[in-house]
Amino acid sequence: MLFEPYKLKNLNLRNRVVMAPMTRNQSPGGIPTSEVVAYYSRRAKAEVGLIITEGIEVSHEASSAYPNVPRLDTKEAREGWKRVVNGVKENGGSVIAQLWHCGGFRKLGMQPNPEVPGHTASGLVKPGKKVAHEMTLEDIKQTINAYASDAKYCEEIGFDGVEIHGAHGYLIDNFFWEGTNIRDDSYGGSIEKRSQFVSEIIQAVRSNISQEFIVGLRFSQWKQHDFEAKLAHSTDDLKKVLLSPVESGLDYLHSSMRRFWESEFEGSEENLAYWTKKISNIPTIGVGSVGLDSDFIDMTAPSKPASIDKAIDDISKEKYDLLAVGRALLSDHEWVLKMKEGRLKDVIPYSKEALLKLY
Ligand SMILES: Cc1cc2nc3c(=O)[nH]c(=O)nc-3n(C[C@H](O)[C@H](O)[C@H](O)COP(=O)(O)O)c2cc1C
Repeated sequence: MLFEPYKLKNLNLRNRVVMAPMTRNQSPGGIPTSEVVAYYSRRAKAEVGLIITEGIEVSHEASSAYPNVPRLDTKEAREGWKRVVNGVKENGGSVIAQLWHCGGFRKLGMQPNPEVPGHTASGLVKPGKKVAHEMTLEDIKQTINAYASDAKYCEEIGFDGVEIHGAHGYLIDNFFWEGTNIRDDSYGGSIEKRSQFVSEIIQAVRSNISQEFIVGLRFSQWKQHDFEAKLAHSTDDLKKVLLSPVESGLDYLHSSMRRFWESEFEGSEENLAYWTKKISNIPTIGVGSVGLDSDFIDMTAPSKPASIDKAIDDISKEKYDLLAVGRALLSDHEWVLKMKEGRLKDVIPYSKEALLKLY
């Protein structure tokens, strides 16, 4: 079933393989170059079902934390993205833009606004470490508006949808997590209140785009700086985290795991994507070391190609709907074709050298 078509809302995908969002830091001035256009087109041509772009910085003064990440806030950047979208569509693919706010990963002195500090829910970048700016209600409003206007740009550009990056410890996850959100207003306190920020983002995005445009949310238990952290300690907690974002108008959820074969909650063998679909009842993407022989520890660690039988089995049993592949597709743009034909031995292994080039 992995290589069979899937309908996501009104979008007909030719198979269930999704390219996971991966930052490439190769868009100087926030503008995707012709190499970026060719990089995504190449994967669409080689039959990737759905491409989720690298994180695109939302148009807010504190959103960035890394160099050469693409943006949407200039005409040139939007024209660059239009070329990416056209390249993917000409090759029969589908493409969703990931919207990203780096939150507490930003530090004073960083471009493009060196005087602007990192923004977080309570000024915390990790439990007990208060070095960022605690967002005011006005900051929250401005940030929500930035997501809404960027989503509109994405629809005008021709993307099939947007994915809100709520994972890995960045701004939205900083609100989600009790370790970094100790606010005592409507955005903090209980699990449900910690989901309020993202729910308002989803509602604002929805009200600024057409009904057909897809809106997804990526979330994770793990953080860049704490692999063991958890938003939800039980399926009941997970329900509380996800309920209001789903009701705010999501079309899919993207459960970011480091190892998709691992059980998430005690007493069951099933992973986070399984529970996400079961609880939310909306299309769900699973991701995490698919097709690789070592897990996601460090993005520079080498990893060899591995069997995907377990992933194929999960999709066949409809435990979740779509399978995202990151590093394996970064190192080998023909990964889908090779796996479909059972040519595992021809797959190019993942290495840190693959990160340097944009092929
Ligand atoms: C180079 C690189 C850049 C990444 N950038 C992003 C990103 O921009 N947004 C995001 O949500 N995840 C990002 N990730 C995480 C991946 O989407 C994915 O969840 C992770 O690599 C695990 O999948 P894999 O084992 O198939 O690589 C990145 C991973 C890598 C290796």
